[in-house]
Amino acid sequence: MKVRLYLVPRLEVTDFTKDDIPFGMELTDAEEWHRTVSDWRRLFELEPRGIFKAVLDGRDVGVAATITYDKACWIHSVIVRRDMQRMGVGSALVKRCLEFAKTRGSSTVKLESVGGCEPFYEQLGFVREFESLRFFGRGLASGSRAERIDESDLAEVCALDKSVTGLDRQRVIYAVYRDAPELAYLLKVNGRMRGYLLGRRGDDRIQIGPCIVYPDRSSYAKELLSAIIGDNQGRDFRACVPDVNPKAKSLVGKMGFKMVGTATRMYLGTKLAEAASVYVIASPEKG
Ligand SMILES: CC(C)(COP(=O)(O)OP(=O)(O)OC[C@H]1O[C@@H](n2cnc3c(N)ncnc32)[C@H](O)[C@@H]1OP(=O)(O)O)[C@@H](O)C(=O)NCCC(=O)NCCS
Repeated sequence: MKVRLYLVPRLEVTDFTKDDIPFGMELTDAEEWHRTVSDWRRLFELEPRGIFKAVLDGRDVGVAATITYDKACWIHSVIVRRDMQRMGVGSALVKRCLEFAKTRGSSTVKLESVGGCEPFYEQLGFVREFESLRFFGRGLASGSRAERIDESDLAEVCALDKSVTGLDRQRVIYAVYRDAPELAYLLKVNGRMRGYLLGRRGDDRIQIGPCIVYPDRSSYAKELLSAIIGDNQGRDFRACVPDVNPKAKSLVGKMGFKMVGTATRMYLGTKLAEAASVYVIASPEKG
């Protein structure tokens, strides 16, 4: 009698280490996400214990990562090798991220779904929140009173951010600022801070975000956007605008940016109130 041995694939979700960054790059390049090695390093350093790798029968097959701040956990960089999809790898990775969020005491988990992956996240309990509208372009600058942010301004920037978003995002704001201080602006009116904007260099274009003002005046956001556009003329930009802020959509359109697509912001747990005066949201991987 012939005995057949069937090998059951063994899936493990383990920690992603610094040495796994080339694997991360391989996955983000395959998906054409324009992620750089320095982006991976910064994301790793932001949450070194919250990045995970899936290994199937000894082969690296997927990644997923988190960033936690205050009561929120952000899941990003969820990718499974194309030839290994629809085998439960992605779900196992996201579940590992959710366990991590629990250890951090996060009451809300958020993410941005691209390319129609909403059903994948819905089967894990996530709910659609709003659309993130992706704008590309060189932009049109006009007059601006915005000035570059100095490291000594960051405490005030974080306080303004918190008053608008209700979240303490200090960790992320400092990290993004330190990567590209030359792309960070604030707007003061009569000596009072009324808004700020951060940017980062992608491999193909400058990613703008966040751009937040208080009180909600689109003219303040216009001045901040004009500052970064004016200082980087001839460069291409990307900005993700929340569709729950129609003034933001109209402003970036008037400033010469074209909408090229949408993504869906989703959440699990407690819904956080979306702030009206967020004009550009931070990049998809940072909340
Ligand atoms: C999205 C992704 C991570 C899913 O990983 P995966 O390992 O294939 O997912 P799973 O096998 O755990 O899927 C579980 C269920 O989710 C749903 N699902 C999975 N991928 C889906 C997709 N792309 N679109 C819609 N539903 C999907 C299905 O219901 C699936 O069950 P089924 O295979 O029995 O029908 C993977 O397709 C991927 O890497 N895509 C490219 C990168 C990307 O878009 N990442 C997400 C960015 S937000």
